[in-house]
Amino acid sequence: MNNFNTIKPTIILIFGATGDLAKRKLFPAFYNLYLDGRMPEKFEIIALGRAENSDDQFRSYVSDNLNTFSRNKIVSQEKFLQFASHITYLKNDIDEDESYLVLQKYLDSRDSTFGERANRLFYLSIAPSFIATISKNINKLGLAANPEQDRIIIEKPFGYNKSSAIQLNELLSQTFKEEQIYRIDHYLGKETVQNILAFRFGNSMFEPLWNRTYIDSVQITVAEEVGVEDRGGFYEDAGALKDMIQNHLMQILTMVAMEAPTSLQSDEIRNRKADVLKAIRRITPEEVAHYTVRGQYDHGAIKGKPVPGYIQEKGVAKNSTTETFVAMKFYLDNWRWQGVPFYVRTGKRMQEKQSSIVIQFRPVPHSTFSFGKEGMMPNRLIINIQPAMDIRLQFMTKKPGLSLSLKPAEMVFDYFSCSNQTPEAYETLLLDAILGDPTLFMRSDQVEEAWDVVTTIQEAWENDKSLNLHKYEAGSWGPEAADALLARQGHAWISNTYNEIKEEADGNYF
Ligand code: BG6
Repeated sequence: MNNFNTIKPTIILIFGATGDLAKRKLFPAFYNLYLDGRMPEKFEIIALGRAENSDDQFRSYVSDNLNTFSRNKIVSQEKFLQFASHITYLKNDIDEDESYLVLQKYLDSRDSTFGERANRLFYLSIAPSFIATISKNINKLGLAANPEQDRIIIEKPFGYNKSSAIQLNELLSQTFKEEQIYRIDHYLGKETVQNILAFRFGNSMFEPLWNRTYIDSVQITVAEEVGVEDRGGFYEDAGALKDMIQNHLMQILTMVAMEAPTSLQSDEIRNRKADVLKAIRRITPEEVAHYTVRGQYDHGAIKGKPVPGYIQEKGVAKNSTTETFVAMKFYLDNWRWQGVPFYVRTGKRMQEKQSSIVIQFRPVPHSTFSFGKEGMMPNRLIINIQPAMDIRLQFMTKKPGLSLSLKPAEMVFDYFSCSNQTPEAYETLLLDAILGDPTLFMRSDQVEEAWDVVTTIQEAWENDKSLNLHKYEAGSWGPEAADALLARQGHAWISNTYNEIKEEADGNYF
């Protein structure tokens, strides 16, 4: 792994620099890294786009966007100008050979200025259909010919099913070695997701309980309030299964379920994660309706404000069967997790933005108290990923007073109590890519396994467009069928704010 202080000059090339991701996430991330003194001493960002722009025009566009999207706004103009002096705009037409020749010449000239061959980081923030052309041109001109120094970052979606992901991996492997390819899943850069590793393997008290003997079930929720916004056209071909489950939710699942790595070496961690994906039970086409529920939002209200249904959104077909919600149950066939259901759900236009993991422990084996086991809330460990960033341990205590009655209580570790400025996921991931640390990026086998898990579901939903598709009201927690999925095994989606737990407590325990 590279040491930050000895990092060579680095050139970051952003294909799609005038696009949405660059504006909202990439430039803010580089800016924040720069303010924190984490960019290499010598670096340049080459912004590549189809439009005509001078450097100054593009820098002022970046400045406007930083003020809107960056966690640190521009406070010092002088500091911004220093940062902006590292940005160059180059007009680039992805389909034209000439553009790559111009780029090659420019890269060579920069190497001469730096006095050595700079590291090159190619960021493909473009539609997947352009990946092949860019990669072939990079290959043809040998722009990434030094595996030690050159890397490519690919955004999701990484393929649209297993065979297209394999094809894409093969295509990239003609130009890049596996260790040069950084497949990004921004959830892995989130502080609270990374903290799962620290929490599990930096403490000795939880790990002995972290298995089927003590854990009853696991829930992973990624709920969003937003709808598809102006991405209706894109979303029609994606849907929640491909957009969220196959990547973000399955990556979180691997962090919760993986075995302890023997070291923090990237391949060691990625091997342990790949083991989890391999252990996920593959279901048959006949079982799809039993294990999954999909939904599509209807009109409704979010925080009292009326919002349209999915099929009223721009770019969406009136008879669309694309799912905006998925709830499903996974089993892992290994010693640690045999028989423990992992429930996952994600949806747009849900009641609240909330991403969380709930580890529910088994009930007490025998109740010593007169009100019986029903009056006892099972112990839960709740890891809130966003917007709340905390870890909550819930347990029963004696209610203060003369009688012996119990009530639930919780202990909370709040991230914000340590720091109110946590880096954004893209800052972490871009810094790792600059330093050449691929731990938080997906390896080809992980991506292919993750697609393999959802293949049967994709095919079943393709073959029967209305299979398990339910409408749900915008502003709700999804279709009732998602509750029924858990109720069959005596479980329920867990409301994870303490106030709700207290309300539950008022009703049942006092
Ligand atoms: C993206 C999905 O990968 O993640 C979007 O394509 C989704 O549909 C987004 O809204 C959610 O990310 P975050 O970081 O806002 O939870």
